Formats: sequence, structure tokens, C-alpha cells
Amino acid sequence: MFRAWSISRSTAGVSPCWPMVTTGESACAWARKARRSVGVNVNIRQVYLIQGSGIKKDHGQRLGRAFEKMTSLNKSGKKHRFGKAWMHEHLNDPYVKEAQRRGFRSRAAFKLLELVERDQLLRPGMTVVDLGSAPGSWCQVVRERLSGQVKIIAIDLLPMDGMNGVEFIQGDFATEEGLRAMREALKGAPVDLVLSDMAPNLSGVEAADQARSVGLAELALEFAALHLREGGDFAVKLFQGAGSDTFRQQAATCFDKVYVRKPKASRGRSREIYVVGKGFRGSV
Ligand SMILES: C[S@@+](CC[C@H](N)C(=O)[O-])C[C@H]1O[C@@H](n2cnc3c(N)ncnc32)[C@H](O)[C@@H]1O
Repeated sequence: MFRAWSISRSTAGVSPCWPMVTTGESACAWARKARRSVGVNVNIRQVYLIQGSGIKKDHGQRLGRAFEKMTSLNKSGKKHRFGKAWMHEHLNDPYVKEAQRRGFRSRAAFKLLELVERDQLLRPGMTVVDLGSAPGSWCQVVRERLSGQVKIIAIDLLPMDGMNGVEFIQGDFATEEGLRAMREALKGAPVDLVLSDMAPNLSGVEAADQARSVGLAELALEFAALHLREGGDFAVKLFQGAGSDTFRQQAATCFDKVYVRKPKASRGRSREIYVVGKGFRGSV
């Protein structure tokens, strides 16, 4: 048994990184998937519509801005660590509200907005790679900022709703197939900017999660070193902790300038940071 608050079309494929509320429409596919992934059989007990700041009960039809609440315990009999307090915080999060207002698929949009403004990462006509792109708010930011004058190749393990000007690959970037699909999509074109917001599914074992996060960042750096044009830029998420300093030093061998950023939209208690590399030197 488990307890989950969820919803949206854009997070329909997200699992088991729950709970989550974003904008979009869905018939609670996310919650059904979360339930399957936990391997328990519970019924959806209540479904609510979120309208403005109010919450209204729905009867399980297709939802507007919605989340569903399933109340139970996880396999070990413990309450899930996300509960009412988390939901309260999430619903009152100004970035969540602003993302809904501006039509961004997730609050992560504001992290990238801060990075691109501060480090001047965007220029019209560029080719951008977005690693770990779903539900797609970073692609939205890049397209919006460049008025569509951009080519984006994006990849995620999860499905992502289509977007004009974005070639999306559903696959695992950490596998040879995923990398091959990216190479094929690029057709040899040099890349101006590699973005990675990839995050591992959290196991709760801190050392393992840390190692996975750094591992994903290293793969992104390797890819950037192979595909960026000279002078190109890079921004990657990783958790601060074991291996993050070494990663920054590795990045510093590839770029003229390397910065460690913690955007305001990144929650203070989260260990996530972004390493930004400016001016690719052309060799690792
Ligand atoms: C924080 S979310 C990205 C949010 C996104 N930047 C946005 O603005 O909508 C992290 C994403 O990384 C993806 N991811 C994690 N490991 C991956 C991998 N090996 N290959 C592709 N995507 C991966 C997850 O599926 C998840 O959707």
C-alpha cells in the first residue's frame, strides 16, 4: 500500500518519482503507473481538480489541472515520505503557480531561465541537445527565448508530448542505443549547447544516488566533448557530494570558464547543483 498525490498529462509517464503536480490534462495515467510500479493493488480513492487556488472534488473523468489522492502505506508498511506537508508546500510553491500561469510543463523551467539569463547560453539559430527532457519545460524555455529559431534534439526515458521544432527520442541516454539514436538525429551537425537535467530515480541510498547522479553528469560531459562545436556551452545537473568537485575539475579541462550554480527555483534542501561550462575548448 502507498500514499500518492499526483497528476497531469505531462507527468503521466513519470514513475516512480512521485508525487508530483504540474499543469496539463490527463486521466491520471501517472498515478496508475505509479501504483503499478510500486506493485500494489489499491483503488484510486479520491480525485480532485485544482482550479486556481481552490481544490474541487472530481469524479474520475478526464481532468483539467488535477491530482488524485491515494491513501495507503508502502510495501514496508511505512507511510511514504511525501505527504500532506509536501503537497501543501508544492501547491503553495510560487514556481509551481507561475509555471501553471505561463503554461510551462514544470517548475524546472525557472531553473533554466535563471541559468540562460545569467550565463547567456542562448543565441538564435543554435542547435541544442536536451538530455533528460521530459516533461519538456526546458525545451519550452529554449524555444520561447529564441522565438522558435532553434533546433532541439531531446531524449528522455519517459514519453514527452510533442513540441514544434523538437526532435524527441524516447530512450536511455546511458545505453549505446540511446547514444546512437542521438548521433543519428544530429546527422553530424555540431551542437552549440548541451543541457542535461537528467536525474536518477532515487533509491533512498544516498551514496548510490550520488554515484548515479555524477555518472549521468559524466556521460553528458563525454557527449558534450564529442559533439559541441568549439566555443559551445554546457549546463548539467548533478548532486553536490562525493564526486561533484572532481566532476567540476573535469569540466574545467574542457571549457574556458566553469561555474557552479544553484538557481533560486532549486529547492534549498535539494543537493542538486548545476555545473555550467562556457566556451568549449575543442578537446577533452
Ligand atoms: C528533472 S526531470 C527533467 C525535467 C526537464 N528538464 C523539464 O524541464 O521538463 C529529469 C529527467 O531525467 C530523465 N532521465 C534520467 N535518467 C535518464 C537517462 N538515462 N536517459 C534519459 N533520460 C533520463 C528522467 O526520466 C526525467 O524525466
